[in-house]
Amino acid sequence: MDAWWRRSVIYQVYVRSFADSDGDGIGDLPGVRSRLPYLRDLGVDALWINPFYPSPQADAGYDVADYRDVDPRFGTLADAEALIRDAHAHGLRVLFDLVPNHTSEEHPWFRAALAAPPGSRERARYLFRDGQGSLPPNNWQSAFGGRAWSRVADGQWYLHLFAPQQPDLDWTNDEVRAEFEAILRFWFDRGVDGFRIDVAHGLAKDPEMPDLGAGHAPSGPAATGHPHWDLDEVHDVYRAWRRISDGYPGDRTFVGEIWVADPARLARYLRPDELHTAFNFTFLLAPWDAKALRAAVDESIQALSAVGAPATWVLSNHDVVRHVTRYGGGAAGVRRARAAALLMLALPGGAYVYQGEELGLPEVEDLPDELREDPSFRRTRGAETGRDGCRVPLPWSGTAPPFGFGPGGAWLPQPAGWAELTADRQTGDPASMLSLYRAALRHRAALPALARGALTWLPAADGVLAFRRDPDFFCVVNAGERPAAAPSDLRRARLLLASGPVAGDGTLPPATAAWYVS
Ligand code: GLC
Repeated sequence: MDAWWRRSVIYQVYVRSFADSDGDGIGDLPGVRSRLPYLRDLGVDALWINPFYPSPQADAGYDVADYRDVDPRFGTLADAEALIRDAHAHGLRVLFDLVPNHTSEEHPWFRAALAAPPGSRERARYLFRDGQGSLPPNNWQSAFGGRAWSRVADGQWYLHLFAPQQPDLDWTNDEVRAEFEAILRFWFDRGVDGFRIDVAHGLAKDPEMPDLGAGHAPSGPAATGHPHWDLDEVHDVYRAWRRISDGYPGDRTFVGEIWVADPARLARYLRPDELHTAFNFTFLLAPWDAKALRAAVDESIQALSAVGAPATWVLSNHDVVRHVTRYGGGAAGVRRARAAALLMLALPGGAYVYQGEELGLPEVEDLPDELREDPSFRRTRGAETGRDGCRVPLPWSGTAPPFGFGPGGAWLPQPAGWAELTADRQTGDPASMLSLYRAALRHRAALPALARGALTWLPAADGVLAFRRDPDFFCVVNAGERPAAAPSDLRRARLLLASGPVAGDGTLPPATAAWYVS
């Protein structure tokens, strides 16, 4: 049997916005536990839980002050252990989120570094450098805007590729390596099935720290030759981690968040002795266009099969504009998102579902500025609106905010129109997004072709993607603007599921996808 992670559907739980148990308006681990039956019924295989560790929340928990505990906002260590146990009892595996590129400024190591002199062992765990006169050591920029260096009282500067509250660790330091290996064991010993690795392409930096040259951006998919993204030295770290995960029973797994421009560079992280899978941002970034989508699929499968790794597919996460909105918003955006879901779930490999996409939630674009929490909003003085709009708490039930999110309010306001989109409202409505995801996931689990069948493209009209998963499953996606006749290979096939109405003769309207079996 293949390892589970080769074709699993993993649901991303953004804890603070999933379900709140105690009425403080912030989702928490007991809230996640209370909704496990919903996730089991949805039909996903596993959960990836965003960071819940003690943190000042300068970057929504991606600034970790203690990697071995739970922030009181989100619960207790006992709640995390109970969540792993309960999820397993519901047949769901659990991945936690590991943030190795940087700690919080409140981490005891960084506090010790600030209290210690330049050149000390305490400073050597981070990237402290002398500046050039009154200027920082080089021109590196933070991914959230502004410079990537902050100055401390004695005049030295420290590197932070994200917010100043997120100092970068020095991964050439043996103490840093040993500490993270111990953290992995801490959670593996508690039964966690794996980790999502935050900024996995960022740990190694060019020791010369040259200026960022033209052609290299501070964030986004990195081009080869970048001074702080995707350096070859990073692979050693993952080889050591793989030896650790392989030492545990039950197919523990790592998924990397790796932003690189070239799928062949991505594949290097997935060599047999490194990480298991990575998010496929090429697919996520592709526009709603048949050629672009097909190119993303082909490039990904080709690059990853060269190292024996499965592809993964993802449409949304907590860092990007929700895909209903990316695909145009409104009714057209919803139609495309429905079709995209059937495309994604029919492709070979694994898939990620970001909480709320199964409800068809759009980006919330009109949040009041004073409620926005994403550091990129303030660091760019509003030039970037930031990522809060995809992080609005989920609507579960009822007709008014907070729509069953919890007994108090919700940390970001939910649009009144979400009354139509609650999980309760969509349950049992055969036309809802939730019903589409449930049906697709049920079929996916039952059909051997979707588990293992190779992908073969079929001839199709312009704007249409059509493929078979051997031997007997077919997916057709009309990403064009005109109705499209079904490919001839499908004449004798039976329609299994469609994202919208399909004509009796098999003609697919625009922005519609359909699954068939023969
Ligand atoms: C990753 C996370 C993002 C976070 C950043 C810094 O990209 O997904 O939310 O802000 O890393 O940790």
